[in-house]
Amino acid sequence: MEQLAQSVRARAVALMEQVLRGGRPLAGEYPLVFDARFPGRVLAIEEQGQVVSACAAIVRDFVVGPHTVRVGLIGSVATHPEHRGRGLATELLGAAERALAQDGCWLALLWADDPVFYDERGWTPVGCEIDFVLESWQQGRLCGTNGIRAAGPDDWAAIHRLYGMHRERVDRSLEETRALLAGPGIETLVLQRSRDVVAYSCLGRGGDFARTVHEWSGADEDVVALTRAHMQRAQARGEEGPTYLLTPPSARTLHERLRGGGIACAEGVLAQGKLLDLHAAAALLGALAGPQGSVSLESQVESQGGAARVLLSGPRGALAIEAGELLDVLIPARGRRTRVDALARATGLSLDGLPLPLFAWGLDSI
Ligand SMILES: CC(C)(COP(=O)(O)OP(=O)(O)OC[C@H]1O[C@@H](n2cnc3c(N)ncnc32)[C@H](O)[C@@H]1OP(=O)(O)O)[C@@H](O)C(=O)NCCC(=O)NCCS
Repeated sequence: MEQLAQSVRARAVALMEQVLRGGRPLAGEYPLVFDARFPGRVLAIEEQGQVVSACAAIVRDFVVGPHTVRVGLIGSVATHPEHRGRGLATELLGAAERALAQDGCWLALLWADDPVFYDERGWTPVGCEIDFVLESWQQGRLCGTNGIRAAGPDDWAAIHRLYGMHRERVDRSLEETRALLAGPGIETLVLQRSRDVVAYSCLGRGGDFARTVHEWSGADEDVVALTRAHMQRAQARGEEGPTYLLTPPSARTLHERLRGGGIACAEGVLAQGKLLDLHAAAALLGALAGPQGSVSLESQVESQGGAARVLLSGPRGALAIEAGELLDVLIPARGRRTRVDALARATGLSLDGLPLPLFAWGLDSI
């Protein structure tokens, strides 16, 4: 993605801060986008020297077990109030999608307070997270432990190392983790045993993730103890209501432990997503289908709409997937396996790697 001239960028950021934060700064909350040391970019539309619409975008490599997939994130979409309804945000979103595709992203993700605007522009709910709801009276059901304290800058390298132990994560540098942890409104706790930090957890982030533990790493019982500590601190501050714990679908033993304690949970979607590059997505499907599978792209004739389809073949047969259905195979909303199971039956492929358990932790979102 091309960098904007400094002066345009400064005006674009000022517009985003005005529209999204009532003039308060965004750089602390989203350093990877707004701090020039990091790879995020600002895109803008300018008219007669005035920035009228702006958004942020960043290319991230997501680690998903043995695979690394390149995904673009979009955020902080804002149009000047006097210029709304003219198609500016739609145009800018399209430009951001094209720029991310050019930078090698097969998928774009975003987190919107109001998804309707994006729904109408081809974005759909994708991926899965399991969200636990811990009522304050359930605190006693969670085991505590000694050695939990607020994290300080000396802990950030240990936290980064623990983050890197997740099978599903974003490929973050230590410098990026440091900048993210220094953001406003994050309560980060660590659990230390003798000299070692063995677990951590983050609650809250700027205006997002209120009362929510959105990023953590460590053994199940330690994550539970950290969550309990966040609940105790909230209670001491006089806060009421439940605490939420976000988890990836792969954290199965943690899920069992919490469910066993009677803690309610719900399957949520990870984000809104849009397919950016059909060829790259088809290649990914081919890699996930294993050595017995093969993938080819078919262009349909004009009378059938002209759109491309992906043909997946296996030992039993082949099945075509419309371009618009591919995300529902690769990262379906709430991890639903309906399409994957139908594909496995038709092709005779096991398709064990699908859906792709792609996951973003709380500090990874923009
Ligand atoms: C959402 C926003 C970026 C749209 O900007 P815009 O330049 O007016 O967008 P466009 O002109 O391309 O599209 C406007 C369309 O979106 C619709 N729209 C605007 N805000 C919407 C919302 N919150 N929900 C659903 N639709 C919305 C308008 O009704 C209009 O519909 P139409 O095209 O059918 O007439 C702008 O309203 C804004 O800055 N809002 C405040 C910040 C915000 O909510 N940002 C998104 C957070 S990531």
